[in-house]
Amino acid sequence: MKNIVLIGFMGTGKTSTGRMLALRLGRSFVDMDRRIELECGMSVADIFARHGEAFFRRKEREVIGRLAGCRNAVIATGGGVVLNRENMEQLRKNGIIICLTACLEAIVERTGRRPTRPLLNRPDREEFIAGLLAERAGLYAAADFCVDTSNISPRQVVEKIIAFLRQGGPKHGRGQG
Ligand code: S3P
Repeated sequence: MKNIVLIGFMGTGKTSTGRMLALRLGRSFVDMDRRIELECGMSVADIFARHGEAFFRRKEREVIGRLAGCRNAVIATGGGVVLNRENMEQLRKNGIIICLTACLEAIVERTGRRPTRPLLNRPDREEFIAGLLAERAGLYAAADFCVDTSNISPRQVVEKIIAFLRQGGPKHGRGQG
C-alpha cells in the first residue's frame, strides 16, 4: 500500500497527527525531522546552528531518497520539504500527499510554545511566518487532500484523513477536508 505523506507548515500538527494516524491504521510511523536528528546526533536547532540550513536540506533530501523503498508507512515531513521539487516527486511516486493547514493565529500560537524551530527564533516571528506562509502556500496546495487543523483536534484530523482514504483516496482530483 502507498505511504501516507503529511506535508504542511510548521505547527500544523504533522507529527502528532501522523503518529495517531499510523496507530489507527496499524502502519509504521516515520518522522523525518526525528530521523535526521538521530542520524546527526543532534537537534534540528543544533544542526541549523552548527552546519547551516543548506546542510539540513541536504539531509532532508538524503532521508527522502532512503524512504523511496518504504511502503505502507505514515510519513510526517518537515515543513520545508516542499521547497525542493524532486523531494515532492519522490514522495509522490509511492505516496498519497496530505496537507495539514492552519490559520496564521493558530500557527503563531502553536509554534510559540517551544523554541525548537530555528527559522522562527526571531523578533519579527509573526510577520516572518505570514510571509513564509504566503510564499509556500502554492506548494502546500498541490497535495491530494488538505485538512484545515485550525479549530479541530489531531483526533478529528485523523478522522477526516481516514474518511478521505475510505472514499477512495486521490482518484477524484484534489480534495478539501
Ligand atoms: C522547517 C520545518 C521544521 C524543520 C525545520 C525547517 C521549515 O519541521 O524541518 O525547522 O522549513 O518549515 P516542522 O514542520 O515539523 O516544524
